[in-house]
Amino acid sequence: MATEKPTYYITTPIYYPSGKLHIGNSYTTIACDAEARFKRLNGYDVFFLTGTDEHGLKIEQKADKLGMQPQEYVDQMAASIKKLWKTLKITNDKFIRTTDDYHEKAVQKIFQKFVDQGDIYKGEYTGWYSVDDEEYFTESQLAEVYRDDNGKVIGGKAPSGHEVQLVKEESYFFKMSKYADWLMNYYKEHPDFIEPHTRMNEMVNNFLKPGLEDLAVTRTSFNWGVKVPNDPKHVVYVWIDALSNYITALGYGSDNDELFKKFWPADVHMVGKEIVRFHTIYWPIMLHALGLPLPKHVIGHGWLTMKDGKMSKSKGNVIYPETLVDRYGLDATRYYLLRAMPFGNDGVFSPEDFVDKVNFDLANDLGNLLNRTVAMINKYQDGKLVADNDATTPYDADLEQTAADVIDEYKDLMNKTHFADALAAVWKLVSRANKYIDETEPWVLAKDDSKKAELSDVMTHLAKSLRVIAALLQPAMPDAPKEICRQLGLSEEPIALTSLAFNDFSATAQVVKKGTPIFPRRDVKEEVEFIKSKMTTNEKKKGRKAMEEAKQKVQASAKQEDESTGKKAIRIDVFDKVELKVAKITAADHVEGADKLLKFQMDDGTAEGRQILSGIAKWYPDPSVLVGKNVVIVANLKPRKMRGELSQGMMLSAEKDGDVKVVIAPDDLVPGMSVE
Ligand code: MSP
Repeated sequence: MATEKPTYYITTPIYYPSGKLHIGNSYTTIACDAEARFKRLNGYDVFFLTGTDEHGLKIEQKADKLGMQPQEYVDQMAASIKKLWKTLKITNDKFIRTTDDYHEKAVQKIFQKFVDQGDIYKGEYTGWYSVDDEEYFTESQLAEVYRDDNGKVIGGKAPSGHEVQLVKEESYFFKMSKYADWLMNYYKEHPDFIEPHTRMNEMVNNFLKPGLEDLAVTRTSFNWGVKVPNDPKHVVYVWIDALSNYITALGYGSDNDELFKKFWPADVHMVGKEIVRFHTIYWPIMLHALGLPLPKHVIGHGWLTMKDGKMSKSKGNVIYPETLVDRYGLDATRYYLLRAMPFGNDGVFSPEDFVDKVNFDLANDLGNLLNRTVAMINKYQDGKLVADNDATTPYDADLEQTAADVIDEYKDLMNKTHFADALAAVWKLVSRANKYIDETEPWVLAKDDSKKAELSDVMTHLAKSLRVIAALLQPAMPDAPKEICRQLGLSEEPIALTSLAFNDFSATAQVVKKGTPIFPRRDVKEEVEFIKSKMTTNEKKKGRKAMEEAKQKVQASAKQEDESTGKKAIRIDVFDKVELKVAKITAADHVEGADKLLKFQMDDGTAEGRQILSGIAKWYPDPSVLVGKNVVIVANLKPRKMRGELSQGMMLSAEKDGDVKVVIAPDDLVPGMSVE
């Protein structure tokens, strides 16, 4: 009977589809993907889950703002997230959406079970609610409070800085308090449950010791969620809905729970540090109440931050993975992210560091090692790599030992999901192999006919080192390892890591005639500038002058309009309410059945973009002349439908003597910039 492969179940958090994912969010998925690939290469039967967390007030509001139905909005966003994972070659086995029918049904079953068991009861909730964080806070948890003249708290800010509002609503509660002692004990008996360990102390000291409060698990203040069975004015609040994904994705609560039987409990839930609490307090308690075993590890990683702090759209310091992948390739991008985040701590992204890592680690150290090796094998041995001979050099043993040590160290670190250190270990071998070239001086050996066997031994040692390096890079880099093997004339099939050893390589290979650099060297100044130009803050600075000009244009045309129509002057605060933005026209067309109307698709700096209708067909019979142009739009006009088409704002145009021209903004403005 064939022996069953051991199983391994790893999950990412499910992402809020409320905006475009940046390199910070992508880190979690890339990290899990590297781990999943690593385990597969070690002979595990892996199930790798990711998905989207699609319910909640924030999504409902976002859709509403765009004049869309929530379902329509999340469909579009989930598709764009799936596309991103494809671009990043993520090998997830399943993508769960919390709006999937099977998930919603299972959540209702889970909820009902809690009610039936008496774990959930109905009560009334009063608290300070932050829409942006989707979280309630007690007064003492608020970072800032506003008081009236009598000192009564009337508002405030959540620790995240977001505004909170006082909300009172009927709510169902989960009796978390009942399980606090059990959880404390569980932590004691399973010291590796939360990693890094410091986070376990945080949970104990900040949440368990002060006393666990019962958790409000439903809301009546919005509709976009799973309805509570038999009480549909309540929707299940996001965390019960969201956390359950890890078991519903495997079929828990459905007719077919084979995957659940096979893969639960999860081996690893990988999550960012701010959601460790939900995964290590509420989730274990929910599972325990369901009578299910707990995940083996919850790993809380740090944030990828920017020099000026957290990455955020409002700060304008966001980098999107597509930008890096398009310019530097997928492998460089994945390598950087995995290497930049030390286990459990925050990592800092900077354009300088990115270009340095591409140049030093990838182009110089690794790229040159391959280039030099291929070039020397061509030059000295007609491109032929011969299997081992009896010759040796005094440096072979150390290189071999380094490779063996690196393999062990790397595996150990990858098993612990210490990605940055694991990659650092691989670079020990890269450096050792480069040093080996300097020590053995193949160009000297080549001059001496009696040293032919030694030279051949050196070449084989280099190829063997590169093969080990390629093998160890497979989890982090989907493409480069194959390319390394191709250039060396070796099999491009995945290399199993189970029994990887320096010497299991006996083939006689023909290397490629001319190796191409796998990671081209980059001009530091140019690339730092390029990356900065893609970060909105910097663009803001750069484009300020151009923006000023655009503003003047807009004001001038507004003034002109004022004068020509005799409109009354308005105060600046009234003008300030108008949100003017730069947008790029990506497509333009006539609206069927409407002579005057044109419809424009625009890139307004958001993932969704927007459509604007404008009655200027008379002046633009061929609207395609406007495609690719930057224009200025009024971004906060209430969306409205015209001829069955949605118009989400207004585009500025200038008019004189019956002639109309769209106000074109300079090319170097970036869609999404506000015109102030
Ligand atoms: N929907 C919840 C998770 C529910 S899981 C049952 C959520 N979603 S999220 O989209 O806001 O965040 C998803 C993940 O992205 C989190 O693990 C979060 O820590 C991570 N990151 C968001 N910004 C990040 C960085 N700047 N750096 C690293 N990870 C970051 O929370």
